[in-house]
Amino acid sequence: MLFFNYGVSSRYCKAIFGSIAALLLSILPAAAASDPPPLRTGVISGAGECGACHKEVLEKWKDSMHAQAVTDPVFQAAYMQAFLDSDGKAKHICLECHAPVSLTNGDTNLKEPVTREGITCHFCHSITATHPNGKRRFDIKVGTTLAGPRGNANTTYHSSVKSDLHRSADLCAACHEYEANGVKIMATWSEWKNSPQGAKGTVCQQCHMPLENSINQRGERISVFSHSLAGGHSIVQLRKGVVVNINTVERFSDRTVVNLELENAGAGHSLPTGIPTRKLVLYVQVTGADNRSQKKSVVYEKVIFNKKGQELVRDSDIMQGLGAVIAKDNRIAAGERRKEQVVFYGATPSEISVTAWVDYVYQPALLQNTEMRVEMTRAERSFGR
Ligand code: HEC
Ligand code: HEC
Ligand code: HEC
Ligand code: HEC
Ligand code: HEC
Repeated sequence: MLFFNYGVSSRYCKAIFGSIAALLLSILPAAAASDPPPLRTGVISGAGECGACHKEVLEKWKDSMHAQAVTDPVFQAAYMQAFLDSDGKAKHICLECHAPVSLTNGDTNLKEPVTREGITCHFCHSITATHPNGKRRFDIKVGTTLAGPRGNANTTYHSSVKSDLHRSADLCAACHEYEANGVKIMATWSEWKNSPQGAKGTVCQQCHMPLENSINQRGERISVFSHSLAGGHSIVQLRKGVVVNINTVERFSDRTVVNLELENAGAGHSLPTGIPTRKLVLYVQVTGADNRSQKKSVVYEKVIFNKKGQELVRDSDIMQGLGAVIAKDNRIAAGERRKEQVVFYGATPSEISVTAWVDYVYQPALLQNTEMRVEMTRAERSFGR
């Protein structure tokens, strides 16, 4: 009878195996104790399993848009709309970049937790080649050998191979370059290739994955490449992008002309880049001693029209590739100093102050109440006659 009493026997087993394990532990390297289930060929493991040994990387990645590429409500709203509009065909478009694990497990209904992890560790470290805008964007080899920058990891859990691709912009190009029907919807990689940074070989990783001091799970100080990949969702990163200067003011009896300059000082691609519904807006305000002011704005953006000549404003339409032509693109290229002249009509008082600032604006058309607006730079000058 006792034999069938699992409660007792399993506790008994634990006691025995527990002491054997403790014995073994004193001989084996420490890592073995917390090893997650072994990696399997062809199966992408969850980020939590990597985090058992790479706690500091996991924490940064969790905050990144890569970790939220599926669960992000802005993506979900656009994906649902695209899915409905296309009778489900959108899954063959969107998921390759937003839920690439579905390429390996066929989970296009996004049911498995690992698929919902978006651009997850094991996927990105299994990429062996990329083909921007290719029929298939990646070659992957999923197993116990991971592609990394050094190629010297030799743990009981995984080995590693040195991958030049992981130190190159080509890795990012797979998803950050997107053309459909001859329309370049997103061209961050080619913008970068034609930039001064691209010419010098300053890759995406140098700006978006800088080495940072951190503490690993053994409490040791280490320096590790940041996996938070700050971009338009980071105020700190945004403020590195653009600088505005008020150069001169010309006064006439019927108008005031403000001459300004905008410099894309910090980005290795156009500003804004990526998904076209993001805009930069320059505001210029002239205020007289009487406190009356006038304001004007200039919008920097990429605008895409469909075959019928209508502007596409929804991410779901744009990203499905329904565009036919780029109707406007006045974004500021990497390294560019853009001269701008803003004219205010009517006389202005003798003493005026001019204020100029640039906002980064993203208002997804499908989610009316979520506008993202961040001030990137500001300048102010006073002028007397
Ligand atoms: C978008 C792809 C991508 C994702 C997702 C990603 N990594 Fe990385 N990882 C990289 C790249 C690229 C490098 C090398 C950076 C460099 O050399 O500039 C790297 C470097 C590393 C390194 C080496 C760090 C060092 O300083 O030697 C480790 C460890 C690592 N990643 C673990 C992880 C873990 C764990 C996760 C998930 C929590 C993860 N990565 C998610 C692309 C990725
Ligand atoms: C049992 C502990 C352990 C687990 C679990 C683990 N790693 Fe590692 N990994 C290490 C050690 C140790 C190194 C080498 C030293 C270092 O970079 O921290 C390493 C190095 C790496 C590197 C750098 C490789 C190189 O040579 O450039 C990458 C990338 C990496 N791991 C990714 C992952 C990913 C992705 C997972 C989850 C699928 C994972 N690791 C799970 C222990 C582990
Ligand atoms: C497998 C596809 C894939 C790869 C490879 C990839 N990314 Fe991404 N990346 C995405 C997606 C999808 C998003 C947007 C997620 C969202 O907002 O829903 C994103 C977002 C970002 C953002 C955040 C933008 C913001 O709005 O804040 C940055 C920065 C970024 N990626 C840089 C990189 C860099 C640098 C690399 C190469 C080291 C890289 N990515 C590789 C798919 C990828
Ligand atoms: C010289 C530094 C630098 C390099 C090189 C660089 N970036 Fe950026 N990137 C920035 C800065 C600064 C921003 C913030 C300004 C912004 O979002 O417009 C940014 C923003 C982004 C964004 C967010 C876009 C948005 O408008 O929200 C993405 C995505 C991105 N970069 C991807 C890349 C990729 C992919 C590469 C390589 C092909 C790359 N970056 C190369 C500095 C750089
Ligand atoms: C070639 C890869 C690729 C494909 C295909 C793709 N996306 Fe994306 N998507 C990205 C990248 C990369 C970003 C981040 C770009 C940036 O920040 O500049 C992004 C960002 C987005 C965003 C903005 C999310 C946010 O929070 O800022 C939405 C919405 C979106 N995608 C919807 C879709 C939909 C819907 C589809 C399919 C119809 C799709 N995408 C297909 C790569 C892709």
